[in-house]
Amino acid sequence: MCGIIGYVGNKSAVQILLDGLIRLEYRGYDSAGIATLADSQFHVLRRVGRVESLINAAGEADMAGHVGIGHTRWATHGVVSEKNAHPHQSFHGLFSITHNGVVENYESIKEFLLARGFTFESETDSEILANLIEYHFNKETDSENRFLKSVQKALFHVRGTYGLAILCRDCADEMVVARKSSPLLIGVGEGEMFVASDVSAIARYTHDIVYLNDGEIARLTPADFSITTLRNESVDVVKCELDWQIEDADRSGYEHYMLKEIFEQPRALENAMRGRFSDDLSTARFGGLRMTIRELRQVDRILFCACGTAWIACLVAEYLIEKYARIPVEVEYASEFRYKNSPLDKNTLVFVISQSGETLDTMAALQEAKRKGFRTLAITNVVGSTIARESDGGIYQHSGPEIGVASTKAFTAQICVAAMLALYLGRIRDMSFEEGVLFVQALHDLPNVVERVLAQKDSIEKIAEKYAHHNDMLFLGRQEMFPIALEGALKLKEISYMHSEGYPAAEMKHGPIALVSEKCPCFFLAPQRSILQKNIANIQEVRSRRAKVIAVATVGSELGEKFVDDLIPIPEVHPALQPIVATIPVQLFAYYVAKFRGCDIDKPRNLAKSVTVE
Ligand code: M6R
Repeated sequence: MCGIIGYVGNKSAVQILLDGLIRLEYRGYDSAGIATLADSQFHVLRRVGRVESLINAAGEADMAGHVGIGHTRWATHGVVSEKNAHPHQSFHGLFSITHNGVVENYESIKEFLLARGFTFESETDSEILANLIEYHFNKETDSENRFLKSVQKALFHVRGTYGLAILCRDCADEMVVARKSSPLLIGVGEGEMFVASDVSAIARYTHDIVYLNDGEIARLTPADFSITTLRNESVDVVKCELDWQIEDADRSGYEHYMLKEIFEQPRALENAMRGRFSDDLSTARFGGLRMTIRELRQVDRILFCACGTAWIACLVAEYLIEKYARIPVEVEYASEFRYKNSPLDKNTLVFVISQSGETLDTMAALQEAKRKGFRTLAITNVVGSTIARESDGGIYQHSGPEIGVASTKAFTAQICVAAMLALYLGRIRDMSFEEGVLFVQALHDLPNVVERVLAQKDSIEKIAEKYAHHNDMLFLGRQEMFPIALEGALKLKEISYMHSEGYPAAEMKHGPIALVSEKCPCFFLAPQRSILQKNIANIQEVRSRRAKVIAVATVGSELGEKFVDDLIPIPEVHPALQPIVATIPVQLFAYYVAKFRGCDIDKPRNLAKSVTVE
C-alpha cells in the first residue's frame, strides 16, 4: 500500500528518494512522486505507473535540494492520475506533503477551506491536509516553532489515519512527520535523518531506527530530531537496531522475490525455531509470551484473528492446538471481529498473526480485544512493528524481509510457530514426554524435508505448464489440509489471476461439484494416511466428471498415479508438520502458473504487501 520516504541532510535528496521508492515498490502502488526543496522552491515530479517512469523523468528534471519527500500511492480517494499522486502542494505553495492513510472528515475540512478561499487541484483527501496546515501556519504566532505548531493544530481537526511527511517552503532543512494508525519510522544518520513508512526504504543508509507511536509528531533536521505528542508533551525516545542487512532484501539472482522467498524457507524455518527448544528436547520455549505457566494453564479458549494468508495460518493453528494441546480454538477474520462484539469467555487468550505487523484490521482487532480486557499475543515477522509493540507479548517469526506480495516463507514460519505453540501448550497440559520428544525431533528435521520438496521444482514447473491455460481450479483437502487448500487457491488467484477456490474435500459435493468438468481441474492435498480412502473417494467423484486431478500425497502411499493425472509426492513427516511440507508444492505451482501466464509475479495487480486501510 502507500509508501513514504523522506530525507534531510547534506546529500542530494533525489537519488535517496528514488532509491527508497524502488524499495517500497513491493508494497503495491499505482503512481509515485517526489518533491525536493531548494532555494525556497519546491521541485515536484509525479508519474502514474511504475517508479521507473519517475526515475526517467527525474533524469531530465531539475531536482536540486538536500531535503525531500517521496511517495508511492495506492488510490483510495480519486482515480489514478498524476494530479492525485503525491506529494501534494498547498494552495499558496507553502507546503508539500505525502500522506498514507485516509482522512475520514475530509469533506467538512474541504468545505471549511473552500469558504476561506483555498482551492484544490486533486480529488484526494490528502491535499486538504496541506491546505489545512497552511491555514494554521498563516495564523501561527510562535515564530520559532511555526511549522511544527501549525501541523499540530491542523491534526487536531483530522479524523482518520495518517503517516505524514511534510516540508515547508519557508523552513529549509526541516521536516515534520506524524503518525496515527499508519506506520512511520525515523532513521538516524550522521548529519542526516530519514523518514519512511517501511524500514526497507532506508535500511541501506542506517540501522538506527526510531519507530513513531500513534499520536506522535517529530521534527527532523540534518543534525537532530525531537518527538512530542500532538499536545506538545515530551516523549521517551526508544532507538532500535535493525537486525537484517540490505542484501537480505535483494533478489540474489532469483527471477522474482517470490521464488527467492520460497527457496529461503528451510532457513526461515530454522530461524523460527532457533533457541526455542527445552534442554531436554521435549518441548518448545518462548521468551516473549510474558505469561507464566500457571496463567497459560488457566486459558480455556484461544481466539486467533488475522487477514489473508495469516488468517489461513490461524486455521492451521486451530487444528494443531486443538489436537495437541486440547484447547478449544476459534478463528476470526480480523476485519469481522473488530465490529462484531463477539461474546468471549473470561479466560480467552487472543492471538493475532501478521507478517508485516501493520495490517490495519488486525491491529484494530488487537485493540478491540485489549479494550475488553483480554490478554493479547502476536505472532509477527517485523520487529518493532505496531502490532508487535501494542500486543501484551508475542513471538517473532524471524523470517527476514518478505518482499514478494504473495506471502510464502512468512506463512510456513507462522505455521511452524503455531506447531511449536501447540507442542508447548500440550506439554504443560497432558502431552507425554515421549510425544514431545518425537515432535521436537520432527521439527528439527523439517528444514531438510522442505529442502527435498523444493528439489522437485522442475517437475512441479512441468505440471504447472500443463494447467496454466485453465480459467478455473478447485483446491481440496481435509482436516489440516483444508487450510492448505485455501492457501493454494489464494496463491494461485493472487499472482496468476486464475479463478480458484479452496474447499474441504467432502464439502465439495454440497455445491462446488457443479463447477467440476474437464475445464475445472482439481488439486487435492491428500498426504494423510488416516483419511486416505476418504480422499480417494473424493478424487473418484471429480474424475468421473472428467476433471483432471493433481494430488500432493505422501511418498509410497496408495494414492498413486492410477488415481490422479499428476502426482506430487512429499516425504512422510510428523502429522503436525504436514501442512508446512504440503504448502511448498502449492506455492511452486502458483508461481509457475503465473510465470507461464506472463504475470507480474512480485507486483500483482491491485494488491498491496501490507494493507493499511480498512
Ligand atoms: O502482513 P499481514 O500478514 O498482516 O498481511 C495479511 C494479508 O494482507 C496477507 O497475508 C495477504 O493475504 C497476502 N498477499 C497473501 O499472499
